[in-house]
Amino acid sequence: MRATDIIEKKRDGYPLSKDEISFMINGYTKNLIPDYQMSAFLMAVFFKGMTDEEATHLALLMRDSGDVVNLDSIKGIKVDKHSTGGVGDKVTLVLAPLVSYLGAKVAKMSGRGLGHTGGTLDKLESIPGYKIEIGLNEFKEQVNKIGLAVIGQTGDVAPADKKIYALRDVTATVDSIPLIAASIMSKKLASGSDAICLDVKFGNGAFMKTVEDATKLATLMVNIGNLSGKKMRAVLTNMNEPLGHKIGNGLEVYEAIETLKGKGPEDLNIVTSVISGHLLTLAGITKTYEEGYDISLKTLKDGKALPKLIEMVEAQGGDISYVKDPEKLIEGTKKVEIKATNSGYIESIDALAIGHAAMILGAGRATKEDSVDLKVGLDLRLKIGDKVNVGDTIAIIYHHDKGVVEASKILEKAISIGNKKVAFKLIEKVI
Ligand code: URA
Repeated sequence: MRATDIIEKKRDGYPLSKDEISFMINGYTKNLIPDYQMSAFLMAVFFKGMTDEEATHLALLMRDSGDVVNLDSIKGIKVDKHSTGGVGDKVTLVLAPLVSYLGAKVAKMSGRGLGHTGGTLDKLESIPGYKIEIGLNEFKEQVNKIGLAVIGQTGDVAPADKKIYALRDVTATVDSIPLIAASIMSKKLASGSDAICLDVKFGNGAFMKTVEDATKLATLMVNIGNLSGKKMRAVLTNMNEPLGHKIGNGLEVYEAIETLKGKGPEDLNIVTSVISGHLLTLAGITKTYEEGYDISLKTLKDGKALPKLIEMVEAQGGDISYVKDPEKLIEGTKKVEIKATNSGYIESIDALAIGHAAMILGAGRATKEDSVDLKVGLDLRLKIGDKVNVGDTIAIIYHHDKGVVEASKILEKAISIGNKKVAFKLIEKVI
């Protein structure tokens, strides 16, 4: 086999066999295929696409390039979720204790934030002492004992994806649906759960800007998961405004705690309960999705799942006084209020710009090496469709002096007030 023949075949639009894809992926991982040939291959895939079967082979080959976690020693059905990334997306922090309280096992490996999107690990680290690096055996023991654990990736998960992603990043081949789907699923399939619900975001704050592209990505990821023996569901959720009110690490943990106490924002309650409803159904805990959704929402509103978060934080060495008194998460941070300069309704919120504003304050990282300030961020007091009068507070900036002027300017432009009360459809569809 020769790399040139495989590149030519894809360039001319023909589907590749598993052996041909394997030749490229394994060859590249072992440094037998140079960057320039892999770049040409990726560009051919970018233009000609891949069948579901090819994308599945690609995902499985990348999964098998590294460690694959075996969770068989954990009793019960293991559930997982994945978000394609958004602004203010703190769903995992609410969902993990919720589905665990309702009887599913959550053995979750999460990631860090990059760019305008946040990451669960950074958020959890705003609780002093919370350990994200624990050994695989300890991780499994914790899930068997208390039903949940959220940690960073252990071992060397999908190294082929890591190497290929770095190349895609500099060859304008990131935005390819089969490459994104295979990349995400290679890591999900390596983490060992039985049932996975994907939260595929669309809109200005998301990777996929349109419902059409999000649908294609979600359908392909569900097919890859099903073809690999996983129970799959994908929910398309609207990222044309941030989720909830708070953006920034400690602030998002704060909002997640409030949500687990039954005092959360409606959109966060709904997105979490929808995903929970699907996971409970896939796990066979509820007979129907509707039953799963209703019990999830009721459990949140009744504040019954909060003790599960406390149990997890305690088991992973975190200071539970921060969960009991979440004001401590933002203690000492300075505040600036942004006021409305005209009256009307909130017509649109540029979630991408809001994510950038939070990053400028120090809440996110521009490159993987940057550190984050866990106490800064934004609290958007109003959502699309809300009425607003001149002088009302539309947002609060939590800061440590860095980036305040720039963030204020971005915020003023990102939130537009008009005369129309526009509707906002939060859940687009389920695949
Ligand atoms: N996230 C991933 O893990 N991979 C992609 O290709 C895009 C987003």
